[in-house]
Amino acid sequence: MISVRRMDKDKETQSEATDSAGILRRGFLKGAAGLGLAAGVAGSVAEGIVAPGTAYAASDPAKNISVPLPTTTAPEQLHLQWGADPARSVTVSWLAPGTVAQPAPKLAYSREPITARNPGKVVRLPEPEPLDLRRPRPEAAATSFTDGLSGETTYHYHVQLQDLEPDTTYYYEVSDGAASPSVAGASFTTAPTGRARFRFSSFGDVGEPTSGSDINVSGYTWQESNDTCVFTVDAVEDPGDGLGAPLFHLLNGDLCYGNLDPGSTPSVWRDFGVNVARSAANRPWMPAIGNHENEFGICDHAGHPYQGPVSAAGAAGSYYNGPYGNGHYHSRFLLPDNHVRNHDGNRLQGAFYKFQVGTVLFVSVDADDVIYQQSNNAKTGAGDTFATGAVIPAGVLGDNLQYTGTLAFEASDNSLVPDGRTANVQAIWLEQTLAEARRDPSVDMIVVYMHQVAMSTALNGNGSDMGIRQAWAPLFDRYEVDLVLSGHEHNYERSYPVRGYDKPSGTVTTAFGSYAVGDTFDTRRPTVQTTEPAEINGIPAWNTRQGTVYLVLGGGGAASTLPYQTDPANGLPQANVWVTHNGRDAVEDAPWSAGRDPGDAYGYAIFDVDPGHRPGETTITFKWFQVPGATSGGTVTLPTAPYETHVFGRKLPLGQPA
Ligand SMILES: [Fe+2]
Ligand SMILES: [Fe+2]
Repeated sequence: MISVRRMDKDKETQSEATDSAGILRRGFLKGAAGLGLAAGVAGSVAEGIVAPGTAYAASDPAKNISVPLPTTTAPEQLHLQWGADPARSVTVSWLAPGTVAQPAPKLAYSREPITARNPGKVVRLPEPEPLDLRRPRPEAAATSFTDGLSGETTYHYHVQLQDLEPDTTYYYEVSDGAASPSVAGASFTTAPTGRARFRFSSFGDVGEPTSGSDINVSGYTWQESNDTCVFTVDAVEDPGDGLGAPLFHLLNGDLCYGNLDPGSTPSVWRDFGVNVARSAANRPWMPAIGNHENEFGICDHAGHPYQGPVSAAGAAGSYYNGPYGNGHYHSRFLLPDNHVRNHDGNRLQGAFYKFQVGTVLFVSVDADDVIYQQSNNAKTGAGDTFATGAVIPAGVLGDNLQYTGTLAFEASDNSLVPDGRTANVQAIWLEQTLAEARRDPSVDMIVVYMHQVAMSTALNGNGSDMGIRQAWAPLFDRYEVDLVLSGHEHNYERSYPVRGYDKPSGTVTTAFGSYAVGDTFDTRRPTVQTTEPAEINGIPAWNTRQGTVYLVLGGGGAASTLPYQTDPANGLPQANVWVTHNGRDAVEDAPWSAGRDPGDAYGYAIFDVDPGHRPGETTITFKWFQVPGATSGGTVTLPTAPYETHVFGRKLPLGQPA
């Protein structure tokens, strides 16, 4: 296990600096938390409703004020990612705490603990280079990234370890290489090969600990800070069923919500990174990009900094923080290479990717590319001026819709398909990936994970996005994807197996185009294939050849989006649907909604994969565990029994047709 360093001295410094700027903080924070106030969590356009009983401190400081990072270099925020082959390649990543590069960073690794007598194999890192997606990522990389609004440069170190032994534990230690070096280390286990049992976990929408938590290092409570995320990370390391930590974790987007504190984004990332490292240093945490990874800055959409005065960048439309606003994400993570180049020349490594463990293929996709809901929902109020002089004008909303190329409407099946000279490269890659997987006898099941949701009945959250239904659900149907995981809603929801779509089933709630309120509209509502599961050992069992099961797993800690929506006319679950660009303009009854948890928004998913004995026999046993919402500085007890358990597989008995 790694140790977490408290930066108390820095906290004091930051507190003074902020107070001198006239911003009330610690005393108010404690008082607010003690009173259980739910102030200052405005969140996004549609996210950010606070569950009753959730105590939140008000966020501070003002969103355009930059909270300085430390200048120390001791390694922290250790995190792992799978390489192309999880049995043989793991990427070890870490950061310097703040704005000073480590003098001579290096990594040592070995199958035995690193000691003076066993120094391990040593990899020394090169000089830092600014993030540049046009160039391939080297095996050992020091990547710097300058935040467009605070002007702070952070340093991210990555070593792609290759040729490892499968199912083997490796120890590693990273050093800043200072005259009196600071080191941090942990160990990890590579994936097994062949038909193997393994466990993975998943949730999205995490945030970072509040200033009331021992794990917080900035001294600040940010827009989506919460202490529930301390316990969801704990749960990955020690799941409630007592059956041990997973091999890896799927992180379904909305990691730190740095875009909601745009003046201090690097500090927000640091609080997130320190908390998550308590698990991610020990096992890969494999992310998908969420809307809150899309940040404001001073770059154009492809990531090229504005060449004129910074203060004019926003007015010129250059308000992305690195490529597509995802500069922090791409600096922090070095993920399996999809070998796809975007039309603007950037390599899209890490934006979407795949990896296989045992008989399961995992596919991470960036739904910001296809959703109707606005992807970048940082709010700038009347317009803000930041530490660098950058100005984000009033009303600006960034957007990554179709950033990997064009999708055209196909009326014959109400879908969106790659089209033309700038055809959408992510959709092309996704179809190729799924088609290959279904031709590959070593792949039994396919798990796709992303951030936004095709199917959600959250009342105050986001709702269902027809963009995903139109662009990707046809592919999930055609190639019989077994599970689709998402976050975005800060809650839990499970669908019945679905395939195809119903006759027009939506009702317009806001007039658009030629549609009036009350008109019927085709929301491409997924068709339920069965509502009656088979049963194995008393557990509901769903055959995913019948249909894809969609799971919303957004309970990582960020503010609850409970409750769910119900049609007052018939008492059935009901879903708001995004059907036009940033227009949540329709509603549909949701017979596809099979499981919800109205009592607790937070939790984590555990998946146990059993490959069976012969091809096609893989099953995945899924457990959703609740995590009680934590108050600032408070503790919670993690339940030992799951909220619900289901089995998914392709050779299970079929359920009765719906
Ligand atoms: Fe989200
Ligand atoms: Fe979220």
